[in-house]
Amino acid sequence: MLFQNLILENASETVDIRVIDGKFENIAPKLEPQPSEEVIDCGGKMALPPFVESHVHLDTCLTAGRPRWNLSGTLFEGIQCWEEYKPFLTKDEVKERVNKAIRLQASNGIQYVRTHVDINDPKLTALEAILELREEVKDYIDIQIVAFPQYGILSYPKGKELLEQALKMGADAAGAIPHFEFTREYSVESLNICFELAQKYGKLIDIHCDEIDDEASRGLETVATRAYEMQMGDMVTASHTTAMHSYNNAYVIRLMRILKMSEMNFVANPCVNMHLGGRVDTYPKRRSMTRVKELTAEGINVSFGSDDIFDPWNPLGNSNMRDQVFMGLYTGHMLGYEEIINSYKFVTTNAARTLHLGDAYGIKEDNDANFIVLDATNWYDALNYNAPVLANYRRGKLIASTAPVEKKILF
Ligand code: FE2
Repeated sequence: MLFQNLILENASETVDIRVIDGKFENIAPKLEPQPSEEVIDCGGKMALPPFVESHVHLDTCLTAGRPRWNLSGTLFEGIQCWEEYKPFLTKDEVKERVNKAIRLQASNGIQYVRTHVDINDPKLTALEAILELREEVKDYIDIQIVAFPQYGILSYPKGKELLEQALKMGADAAGAIPHFEFTREYSVESLNICFELAQKYGKLIDIHCDEIDDEASRGLETVATRAYEMQMGDMVTASHTTAMHSYNNAYVIRLMRILKMSEMNFVANPCVNMHLGGRVDTYPKRRSMTRVKELTAEGINVSFGSDDIFDPWNPLGNSNMRDQVFMGLYTGHMLGYEEIINSYKFVTTNAARTLHLGDAYGIKEDNDANFIVLDATNWYDALNYNAPVLANYRRGKLIASTAPVEKKILF
């Protein structure tokens, strides 16, 4: 199969892509069609490797307003609403919602997802459901599961045992939530447990770290130090780190050294960080997104995630990664030309690095032929005009498409 006339990322010239047996066989300008080869003219549109959702909670998706709405809009009322929803969880109910969300993601060009799944549940219902689903949909989307202790490892009954059980059942990564533990001592100890269990079972780590406007929330320095000392850096991710927004600059300068040494990853969730952050401020109200511009300038890997899709923490959300990039650039003061034109990397290559996908990710010969085609000729326009993903190809097969929008202006 030959795909003609595509612009790869920020290239200035078009190329053709030949796909054989689901793999990229050849990528070069003006490839000659072979006899009886199927040819698709992509019309000079932009191609990217598929979008990567590096932080989302699929177990809570599509539950906003059930059994009630989060009226204060705070993180903590969100947790309370989720607690009230939990008695309604069944395996079928979770699978039905998550199946819908996955298809929404596919329509927006996503093929790789890291989902956190709440494991502070003695029955581990949601985890079981999403483990099953991971297998059922693997031909269309790769799902990576983080065992996420919503209430803590030490501040929830048998939290440590549940985390270990979730890893044994097949979760890909260990989670923790140091800022939500009862004490600072529990906070540090919960991180030690998380790292020890991840190492014991050979798993990745993704921590909900300092998702609070409290500038005294200092889980990050412990995460970075453990990542460095245990030489697990590129397997470790600190999600949110919104307290870093509020740290004093003198502390951040000292902290940045160990962050760089650790080689760990960061995920910001721009829309939800803006929505949940600054809630106890009067004026001025903090933006509460971590220091994406400064981390990036130091060569530290940062990706963007949605966090929530229409759930107690976000009453909006459509799994369109462009929205996260758009909000992230505005929130982070990153609207310089180079920052805009390269910003797709927050939801492609950077996010792939967060998920530890390695060389298997990307449009290059011998890789699986996974790619998307946007209704734009460059990322600047795709971002600005919210270009739809015209086609989402998985191993060379079309798995989702959107017709181009035709606007009529009548004057
Ligand atoms: Fe989260």
